[in-house]
Amino acid sequence: MYYLGVSYSMAVENKNILFKKLESKDAIPFDLLLLADPSIDLIAEYLKVSELFVATDGQEILGVIVLFPLTGETIEIKNIAVRTKLQRQGIGSILINNAIRLASQSKIKNIFIGTADTSIAQLSLYQKLGFRISGIKEDFFLTNYDRPIYENGIQAKHMVTLIKTL
Ligand code: COA
Repeated sequence: MYYLGVSYSMAVENKNILFKKLESKDAIPFDLLLLADPSIDLIAEYLKVSELFVATDGQEILGVIVLFPLTGETIEIKNIAVRTKLQRQGIGSILINNAIRLASQSKIKNIFIGTADTSIAQLSLYQKLGFRISGIKEDFFLTNYDRPIYENGIQAKHMVTLIKTL
């Protein structure tokens, strides 16, 4: 699964954005990771076996995506986050599209992602990028987190899973 280490730049809305693998010497952007996942324990656990990519303008990290090997042919996007002030400018789409591009160049055949039943924007984004709903993990957010999570005025209960076949 370790097909990565590629870095290349893409111009986006007049900004030059570099998508690259975070190097071991770089500080892990926990502030961003916590935007997508409130559990530092879960984050620390999946980072042990994941690869972490960032979108950067060369100065600061704008967004992050974490790819976790689920099986030999399937990776899971465990975490994706864009700095709050920069959201809705296409950076999340760049992160996912570059992950898709890298996975397509490897033996990976499927990309899996899970989100809360309350994550309206995320469900829109993933489906726009070709992911299709594949199932529901019932009560996931009630049993895996120690406090209630609210989004869009609704308490998150189930995880909606989506898959993109490459
Ligand atoms: N409301 C409604 N739709 C939204 C949205 C919002 N706040 N943010 C993104 N979308 C949808 C829209 O369909 C949008 O397309 P449009 O702008 O043409 O309407 C599409 O996603 C693409 O958005 P994009 O600008 O590429 O996404 P982004 O850079 O804002 O990144 C997230 C998306 C989810 C990564 C970002 O909002 C984020 O970091 N959120 C907090 C962390 C999080 O929830 N991570 C995911 C956990 S499952």
